[in-house]
Amino acid sequence: MASAMLNGAECLKLTRGLGFSGSNLHGRNFPKLGLVSSFGCSKAVSMAPKCSLSASRPASQPRFIQHKKEAFWFYRFLSIVYDHIINPGHWTEDMRDEALEPADLSDRNMIVVDVGGGTGFTTLGIVKHVDAKNVTILDQSPHQLAKAKQKEPLKDCKIIEGDAEDLPFRTDYADRYISAGSIEYWPDPQRGIKEAYRVLKLGGKACIIGPVYPTFWLSRFFADVWMLFPKEEEYIQWFTNAGFKDVQLKRIGPKWYRGVRRHGLIMGCSVTGVKPYSGDSPLQLGPKEEDVSKPVNPFVFLARFLLGAMAATYYVLVPIYMWIKDQIVPKGQPI
Ligand SMILES: C[S@@+](CC[C@H](N)C(=O)[O-])C[C@H]1O[C@@H](n2cnc3c(N)ncnc32)[C@H](O)[C@@H]1O
Repeated sequence: MASAMLNGAECLKLTRGLGFSGSNLHGRNFPKLGLVSSFGCSKAVSMAPKCSLSASRPASQPRFIQHKKEAFWFYRFLSIVYDHIINPGHWTEDMRDEALEPADLSDRNMIVVDVGGGTGFTTLGIVKHVDAKNVTILDQSPHQLAKAKQKEPLKDCKIIEGDAEDLPFRTDYADRYISAGSIEYWPDPQRGIKEAYRVLKLGGKACIIGPVYPTFWLSRFFADVWMLFPKEEEYIQWFTNAGFKDVQLKRIGPKWYRGVRRHGLIMGCSVTGVKPYSGDSPLQLGPKEEDVSKPVNPFVFLARFLLGAMAATYYVLVPIYMWIKDQIVPKGQPI
């Protein structure tokens, strides 16, 4: 079990090696990348992902809720308890503030879009630094957005329904693009990151916070049944493909995990990149992976929904298990 032991957040900066040109998107000849930690030590990591970097889903990784309709209904129910179970277990206020730090929210007048903003938990962190009237929360779930609308500090934010893979903002619109915990539901994450690039102004920064893939077999099984848990190198590849420069990845996790990453983390990293040229992303993509206007077989939908929701339950239990371990194992020892 190759768990990385980290004390708090660790910042990894991508430095592309010379061997990068031989890469392709399916993991063969995957580039050797240098990841430099903020503590100054550097390590060359050979990354050969077993899963595809494209949007296709191998049968062994069905990711039942990584579909727009399934995600919509998943949040129809989860929105009722979201702020009470997701935040304490997986996405605490101190994690959020650490994860937003690389987004460099340095000016109250910045135009910010929070994509997949849900109940506004991350937006509450954004409006500490930026005037709420300059912030737009976008989400495909009206049920999640209804919770955001009830939050007093967000009353001046614009709150709109929309799709992360097809944003209703003009090209070169925003200074910052933030998205926390949403990419795992996008059928085509590369398209969403290409959209992040498009809507940013020249020099604008995208910050995507999301899960990381487990290495422990049981956790990996439930992750693959539930949704997309990308590998760190996949995030970096998607950002680079979209045209971002200065791509950096910061590891995050609940304090009581003591840096353990083998079970995967629903909020495991914060990835940032800077838009170097104005206009659309240089990346060309084919048709959308999923067309929501097309009908879905109701039996297929129900099967995916139930199996995916059952797998998600495992990840309600993991933080409790880690919390108990943290209480039992003496401080300073690995758990
Ligand atoms: C785990 S919640 C994160 C909410 C919020 N960002 C936070 O930090 O608490 C994921 C959100 O992504 C939204 N979402 C999923 N797929 C989406 C899509 N294609 N476009 C827009 N929002 C999407 C869901 O509706 C849900 O509100």
